[in-house]
Amino acid sequence: MRWIVSTLVGLAALASAFPAHTVQRATHQHDFGCSTEPSDAFLAVAKEMSRQERGFGRLSAANATIKVQTYFHVVAASEALEDGYVTDTMLADQLTVMNSNYAPYGISFSLAGTDKTVDASWAVDGAELAMKKKLRKGDYKALNVYFQKEIGGNLGYCYFPDSVSTGSDDFYYDGCSILFTSLPGGSATNYNEGKTVTHEVGHWFGLFHTFQGNSCSGDGDSIADTPQQLNATRGCPVGRDSCPGVAGPDPIHNYMDYSYDACYEEFTPNQVTRAYNMFNKFRVNGPVASMARRAPIDLDVSLAEIEAGKLD
Ligand SMILES: *[C@@H]1O[C@H](CO)[C@@H](O)[C@H](O)[C@H]1NC(C)=O
Repeated sequence: MRWIVSTLVGLAALASAFPAHTVQRATHQHDFGCSTEPSDAFLAVAKEMSRQERGFGRLSAANATIKVQTYFHVVAASEALEDGYVTDTMLADQLTVMNSNYAPYGISFSLAGTDKTVDASWAVDGAELAMKKKLRKGDYKALNVYFQKEIGGNLGYCYFPDSVSTGSDDFYYDGCSILFTSLPGGSATNYNEGKTVTHEVGHWFGLFHTFQGNSCSGDGDSIADTPQQLNATRGCPVGRDSCPGVAGPDPIHNYMDYSYDACYEEFTPNQVTRAYNMFNKFRVNGPVASMARRAPIDLDVSLAEIEAGKLD
């Protein structure tokens, strides 16, 4: 408890460095191109958390739990399945996949509501903020998932957590948009087992891609137990090692890579610790989980110090 409180104080300086309207969008694409990068400020928050997490023990599902109140929003161009009007069975299966993928880490999703909207513009993400102002539900720790017909050629996109005030535009932007064909039973070949949501919700919990930074050196994803990775994985190439000079093969089975759904299997212990810390810091007003850990390190650091590399 004491450690968590200290963390909140110590990171306050970092949070205030966030510009007012910079909720960060992370995109999951079929093909490579320009996916929005996390801001320098958010990368610095992750790096500082990583530094503090070095002394952490393994987080066990037995004594750490996050229950996420979840809202599903179907936004289709018509009531036809091919226009995005997914079936209740697909939605139920999607929830099952989320719960089964996150259960080993003590994280569960309870469906608090489902709505279906027919709007030709919203279905193709033509008015994101207007749509979300109408549909978003719950507080900042509630997960809103929008299943849409088309989202700019992407499988999904989501927003990293941030310090936002309830009712602000950034508050409304929060949530994940998902291509409807990626739901279980959908038509997105190789990406239709519902794990795009698992990946995007990882971003919602503050996790980066395992190939963040696209380099075999540097901070990468600021997660200690994911091997350095040069670039995204396609398919499921067992043994792939994009950074041969660095320990470990690529984490191709990690939910935060870009592998096929059938290849996705896990988050690492440090990613889970990070998800809890991000959730505690940004999404609730106080810790929701206790974690196995050692004594805290000095937390009173400034963003300037971090950016100057003094904390490496
Ligand atoms: C990853 O980088 C390597 C080396 O530059 C390159 O050959 C390969 O095509 C890249 N892979 C992807 C998926 O971009």
